[in-house]
Amino acid sequence: MHCVRKVTEDLYWVGANDHRLHLFENIHPIPQGVSYNSYLLLDEQSVLFDTVDWEASRQLFENIDYLLGDRPLDVLVINHMEPDHCAAMEQVLKKYPKVKVYSTEKGFMLMHQFGYSVDEHETVEVTDGDTACFGRHTVAFLTAPMVHWPEAMITLDTTDGSLFSADAFGSFIALDGKLFNDEVNFDRDWLDEARRYYTNIVGKYGPHVQSLINKAAPLLGQVKRICPLHGPVWRSDIGYILDKYNHWSSYEPEAKAVMIVYASMYGNTESAAQALAAKLCDRGITDVKVYDVSNTHVSYLIGEAFRVSHLVLASVTYNLGIYPPMLNFLNDMKALNLQNRTVALVENGSWAVKSGDLMAQFLDEQMKLMTILNERLSIASSCKASQEDELNNLADSIAANMRES
Ligand SMILES: Cc1cc2nc3c(=O)[nH]c(=O)nc-3n(C[C@H](O)[C@H](O)[C@H](O)COP(=O)(O)O)c2cc1C
Ligand SMILES: [Fe+2]
Ligand SMILES: [Fe+2]
Repeated sequence: MHCVRKVTEDLYWVGANDHRLHLFENIHPIPQGVSYNSYLLLDEQSVLFDTVDWEASRQLFENIDYLLGDRPLDVLVINHMEPDHCAAMEQVLKKYPKVKVYSTEKGFMLMHQFGYSVDEHETVEVTDGDTACFGRHTVAFLTAPMVHWPEAMITLDTTDGSLFSADAFGSFIALDGKLFNDEVNFDRDWLDEARRYYTNIVGKYGPHVQSLINKAAPLLGQVKRICPLHGPVWRSDIGYILDKYNHWSSYEPEAKAVMIVYASMYGNTESAAQALAAKLCDRGITDVKVYDVSNTHVSYLIGEAFRVSHLVLASVTYNLGIYPPMLNFLNDMKALNLQNRTVALVENGSWAVKSGDLMAQFLDEQMKLMTILNERLSIASSCKASQEDELNNLADSIAANMRES
């Protein structure tokens, strides 16, 4: 059965929702699913903007068959060659031997690498400022290198103001009927997953996102809706999501808030982390969340680390090192270029406590612009009542730093 949504008079969402995939990119859990968005424009020429992942291709074809009827597909625009969007391309090429393909130089390179038979088709290699006219609609192409692949581009329909933004402005969570940002409560239900999507997939490439935002700035006035490759289409409140992207891509925290991440085998470090959370709340800081690094997928920790201004890392010492899941979190923060955060450290050890120094060394030497608070809580096996002053000092120091910054 076809399942399409009308975006404008002659533009349709023809994508699909996926609730079967457990791990996006075989690494990030997506308990609420994901959508692969593809868009069909019915102008004098029919134009498909990107395709879908392999397992969603049947749905894509039911959708475009329904809308095209006897018409052929004339044009395929490939903004992004990652297989979650281009896997169905080979079938599109086979089904429509006359379809003309638009993409970037690197897009065509990747088509060859992935083995798609694009050479049998008319192709148009586009770059910044190139345009194409499909009848009533004219589109302009803008390359978006390393957002988050090298070949990525975005396409602006200058006639109607639809911006096909590739993975930019995308989100996890299946659409399940709803398509537009005003059909969902984005701030309540989607923001955390949109942030987790951005930070884990694109987070490393903040400077590239910033240069795309700057490059696209002169066109922004023309943008009436943003049509990303995952998640809702933005047709109102575009400033809201742009503001989020500005924060995330410049590594600015979204909120004065604390995340406490603890690594604890037997619960003693955990208990200190909880006591610290309570003391922060006593001081009026209630945007505090506590995470067990061992049972929280690191993609959630990354999303939250991009949101908050302050992190508390509380780790046991493990075979003279940092507890492996905590080290994994640190490595992931580094890999995704997270920077410009304030960190308080809590360490635990029963015979040779090392985790505090090692975490400090990692933050200093391997990450950028990380401020480490002087007050460190050091625990010998378990946090004693006699250490309450130290806990209070740590909470005071975090609170003071939050007030200052
Ligand atoms: C496998 C293993 C290795 C450990 N290695 C060290 C170590 O090298 N140095 C140290 O001071 N404590 C070491 N510990 C003790 C822990 O760091 C910690 O003090 C203890 O687990 C209590 O904290 P918890 O209740 O939060 O787990 C080790 C514990 C385990 C189970
Ligand atoms: Fe992608
Ligand atoms: Fe994608």
